[in-house]
Amino acid sequence: MALRFDVLARFNRARAAKMTLPHFVCETPLFMPVGTQGTIKGLTTSQLEEIGCQIILGNTYHLALRPTSELIDELGGLHKFMNWPRALLTDSGGFQMVSLLHLADITENGVTFQSPVDGSPMLLTPEESIQIQNKIGADIIMALDDVVKTTTTGPRIGEAMYRTIRWIDRCIAAHQRPDEQNLFAIVQGGLDPVLRDICVKALTKRNLPGYAIGGLAGGEDKDSFWRVVAQCTAALPEDKPRYVMGVGYPLDIVVCSALGADMYDCVYPTRTARFGSALTPEGVLKLRHKAMAEDTRPVDPTCACMVCRTYSRAYIHSLVTKDAMGSQLLSYHNLYYMLQLSRDLHYSIIQGRFPEFVCDFLKKMFPNGD
Ligand code: GUN
Ligand code: ZN
Repeated sequence: MALRFDVLARFNRARAAKMTLPHFVCETPLFMPVGTQGTIKGLTTSQLEEIGCQIILGNTYHLALRPTSELIDELGGLHKFMNWPRALLTDSGGFQMVSLLHLADITENGVTFQSPVDGSPMLLTPEESIQIQNKIGADIIMALDDVVKTTTTGPRIGEAMYRTIRWIDRCIAAHQRPDEQNLFAIVQGGLDPVLRDICVKALTKRNLPGYAIGGLAGGEDKDSFWRVVAQCTAALPEDKPRYVMGVGYPLDIVVCSALGADMYDCVYPTRTARFGSALTPEGVLKLRHKAMAEDTRPVDPTCACMVCRTYSRAYIHSLVTKDAMGSQLLSYHNLYYMLQLSRDLHYSIIQGRFPEFVCDFLKKMFPNGD
């Protein structure tokens, strides 16, 4: 195993831990910004270090198409290629294909799809996904899973869950670098507690370095979402990291951390920045709004980031939709906000004031109690 997970403090089910990976020692709960072509849109790797980013996520599917895993391998791995000295995680690729390409089709052998390059049919098997991720060289690699939308009903949910269990053994057998890279399994089973329970038990038996909860944040209601997270975190091993995939909004991260989850990733902070929105303790601030045109205050007067220390809302308002710098500055602030939220969660648990932190967070976000 190439991972150590030391729980430093708990508050009920919430935990603060130190997760030692080959390239970095991370503090949890943690948020992972999402990069696609080996970059977080609009930020340099030194800016990511400056805002305290510990680990970033890359997508196998995008990297395998361009610049290709062979080239990344030849050039010394993704850390070296993108000049990122800290930790990296790659997702297995299947989820991206299914969510991006409507033409993807899942069979027992793997995910078949049409190449976006030349339209030719391609197949991603569990073995191939791991082989590609071994070449890319991330600290954490994800198993290929069969993902269905949470809003799907019927036997397809069970089929996908059982196939995910069969595929984990193919992933484990294909993994060539277990001493340098940590393979995480992904719990599936939709919103069905019986299927989720079968999946958690089967995957836990494989004794992997970490576990993810997948198939969420796909349009289900919050109640169902939190119920699945609560069930899975309660059943997963205490001494291993728990990663809720594709989550999420600041509130979701606070709630999932209270339920005992440790890791998150989401495109939301950078995507919403490109639409001109800033994340603040009071909620989303729309910089495109004409009320911002003469507002000389920083985006968030309580934020310590470079953008909030340097620029006014009026200046950023003048840039959004007109110059790439507008979305770059907002991406910087929004990622700083998410990383600061993770640090606040970590230290409030360590210092035994997690409930006060959560109350304060909720009061600012929902001042009218709704
Ligand atoms: N990203 C968000 N959800 C999922 C999931 O269920 N599986 C994988 N592989 N990636 C995801
Ligand atoms: Zn800021």
